[in-house]
Amino acid sequence: VAVDPFDLVVFGGTGDLAHRKLFPSLFRREHDGQISEPSRIIGVSRREMDAAHFRADVKKALETYVPEEELDKAIVKRFLARLDYVAVDATGDDGWEDLKAHIADGLDRVRAFYLATSPNLFDAITHGLSKHSLLTPKTRVVLEKPLGHDLASAQEINSAVADVLPESQIYRIDHYLGKETVQNLMALRFANVLFEPVWDSAHVRHVQITVAEKVGVEGRGGYYDHSGALRDMIQNHMLQLLCLVAMEPPSTMQADALRDEKLKVLRALKPIDETNVRTLTVRGQYRTGAIDGKSVPGYLDELEDGVTESATETFVALKAEVQTWRWAGVPFYLRTGKRLPSRVSEIVIQFREVPLSIFGSAGGFLAPNRLVIRLQPDEGVKLYLMIKDPGPGGMRFREVPLNLSFAETFKGPNPDAYERLLMDVIRGNQALFMRRDEVEAAWVWADPILEAWSRLGQKPASYTAGTWGPSAAVALIERDGATWHEDP
Ligand code: BG6
Repeated sequence: VAVDPFDLVVFGGTGDLAHRKLFPSLFRREHDGQISEPSRIIGVSRREMDAAHFRADVKKALETYVPEEELDKAIVKRFLARLDYVAVDATGDDGWEDLKAHIADGLDRVRAFYLATSPNLFDAITHGLSKHSLLTPKTRVVLEKPLGHDLASAQEINSAVADVLPESQIYRIDHYLGKETVQNLMALRFANVLFEPVWDSAHVRHVQITVAEKVGVEGRGGYYDHSGALRDMIQNHMLQLLCLVAMEPPSTMQADALRDEKLKVLRALKPIDETNVRTLTVRGQYRTGAIDGKSVPGYLDELEDGVTESATETFVALKAEVQTWRWAGVPFYLRTGKRLPSRVSEIVIQFREVPLSIFGSAGGFLAPNRLVIRLQPDEGVKLYLMIKDPGPGGMRFREVPLNLSFAETFKGPNPDAYERLLMDVIRGNQALFMRRDEVEAAWVWADPILEAWSRLGQKPASYTAGTWGPSAAVALIERDGATWHEDP
């Protein structure tokens, strides 16, 4: 369904995110007829450039990041014709009136400003928009991550933006919420009656959330070395996944109903601080190794010339707990890292054993049920069940998955997370965006971990690129008599 006409202004319009994600996603929405006339997309950055040059740049980005067979010439032409460009000095006065003139005739349209810039500029840009009277009642401002570096900086950004806009017009991106399979997690839990009765500590022994990447820091060392895996992945994406698994059923899918429930989970996370950080967390940093038979450099070699030392973690494993009646005592093991052996994001719900095996020792071990929700790649859901091995030999069992593969069931590619999220901004649906109090509650939990690491001098353990992180990460879960899930 086509969305209402809009003007979308992309600050950071010549940047990496815009090229890799935003323009390819907008192009796909154009392709599917979701962008209606006379919508416009205006790139903004500090650099002086004319619209023709900007269009040529975006065309190149499409050719790089969209498969050739999707690039229908007529649609590319139509899309590029929507684009315009204005140079604006975010921290000064130049360019704002020019931007205003460009969209002055679109007062009745949805007017979205996407801030794909460094968060240092969020204050200046939102105040610039206000000062130059660019904000309308139909304005939405989208903030890209990272939303701060710790609680204090997140609060500073949030307060600066709140000076000029109400929360209902602020869209904080966590692109994991736009992933099809992440939304499917809600479908699985709340569109089926099967899981809810067993979704608690009486039936679930533990939960695992893994987001493993093969890539290293990909030329983003400048950013990453000041961030690290806890800030880059856990504070945002992985806590959001944990929230969707652990939250109570919201009463509706209305944005605040959903966000209220996620907030309760974040506030119920057991604190990790100096007293328990050594037993509950593992930090790692990759050294040179090999992935898929190809040797890859170590983390320090990927940083800028001259940087020879770093205490930044590229891997984290930790044991979290949600202190509520539903979940008390159930470990939530979280694990993420760069330069791991494969790219896989998945959530594993490990159920408890049957209370009693009536089959005696001849039946063999009854593996407890396991629900595996694969977020990427090979998106799907597997429910591991014990099944009788066919044959006359008596009751012998085998663990077999009920296997739902999205690719087989729903032929055709999954849309990128940004496609959904960009259209939600235009539609005015905040459900898949983080509210201020959520972001801050996540920092309230993450800050003491970072502080404890630094105060106790807990340096990252080195791991060979292409392995599953430091051995302590295996020990973290094995101490509790469990193992990280590996697809057999
Ligand atoms: C980003 C992180 O938010 O998410 C990156 O900054 C990471 O470091 C990326 O690589 C992972 O996203 P995806 O969609 O590829 O799983």
